[in-house]
Amino acid sequence: MRADFASLPYVPFSPAIEQPQPNEQQLMEETVAAMRRMAQSQFDQHRHANRDAHAKSHAIVRGELHIPADLPPHLAQGLFALPGTYPVIIRLSTAAGQLLPDKVSGFRGFALKVLNVPGPKLGPEDLDALTQDWLLVNHPAIATGTVQQYHDAVLKAEKTAGLPEEVRTVASVVGQAVHKGLAAVGVQKDLLPLGLDQPQNHILGETFHSMGTFRYGDYLAKISVAPLSENVRALTGQVQSIEADSAWRDILGAFFREQGAEYELRAQLCTNLDTMPVEDGSVEWPAADSPFQPIGRLVITAQESYSPARRVFGDDVLSFSPFHCLPAHQPLGSINRVRRLAYPSSSRFRHEQNAQPRREPRDISELPD
Ligand code: HEM
Repeated sequence: MRADFASLPYVPFSPAIEQPQPNEQQLMEETVAAMRRMAQSQFDQHRHANRDAHAKSHAIVRGELHIPADLPPHLAQGLFALPGTYPVIIRLSTAAGQLLPDKVSGFRGFALKVLNVPGPKLGPEDLDALTQDWLLVNHPAIATGTVQQYHDAVLKAEKTAGLPEEVRTVASVVGQAVHKGLAAVGVQKDLLPLGLDQPQNHILGETFHSMGTFRYGDYLAKISVAPLSENVRALTGQVQSIEADSAWRDILGAFFREQGAEYELRAQLCTNLDTMPVEDGSVEWPAADSPFQPIGRLVITAQESYSPARRVFGDDVLSFSPFHCLPAHQPLGSINRVRRLAYPSSSRFRHEQNAQPRREPRDISELPD
């Protein structure tokens, strides 16, 4: 039986919760300009434009989101106000803005696009889109939790963009010892936010987090996805031996060719703005103050997860953004506000350079097999 957390003191959403940071607009513009310079330099090298972040995908799968009928009122908010079943597209990726060999570890991305969602959307470019996205990473908080910190990290990262790939690879494979060598050239700390020192845990066993805060109807929440079916729960913490450049594509491809998977979608509602701040994404909200509570189930059936047509659609046609959302799920806090500029900038550049249409899918049949 599900525990009933109906009586916790959930903080109500109000526009006054957000506190603009000093010099915020300038910091945002400088951040996005630096990311564009790096994207341009990558493009000039490869003559193909990738995402400024999470450039390398490993699987692009279709599935369904099931929203149950019995959610208590504090969870029956926004998209979750009514029960229903929605088609979804999920893109699994690694965080770097470059296509590095898979033996270079990194934080993993779980980008979720829910289709057939009616109602006006927040993103200025996609008001009539039928999509609601959540972008999740396998870590509960973001090290650079404010726009100032993110800005500083991006500007420093520009320095490492020209580093030979071998140095990055060695940094990840041998870990801390080699980071000392990188420190000598002043780049150690700048590489770590990408999670290059993370173990090569099986991606399908990981738990993924929004890291930043989102409006959750009348409340505020962080969103998360956790393994639910036995086969993916069994993969949690299973370290893989990764050698081939595209090993993860092959591991995930072999998995989904034979099996489906289920994940639980969960919301952690804010109960205390002191211990669960909105303007600093680096703070992990304590589960003791408010637990993650189930709000839906993601069901993925067995399928070919990386056909050539699907890779091109997932990498070059699709764009995921936290601002592809209902106003009831508005991204909050400065680390989210900067994303309002960053995602369209990255996606516009790569769509233009790759001569691909920039559109939000209106039907799941647009995702090729
Ligand atoms: C706060 C927590 C964050 C999370 C959980 C997150 C997660 C993700 C994920 C999962 C993707 C891959 C989306 C896909 O598969 O298409 C992505 C892409 C991206 N992220 Fe973030 N991210 C965060 C913060 C940021 C920030 C602060 C910036 C920049 C200011 C940023 C810039 C980008 C860009 C430019 C892309 C590629 C967009 C595109 O070309 O379509 N992210 N992010």
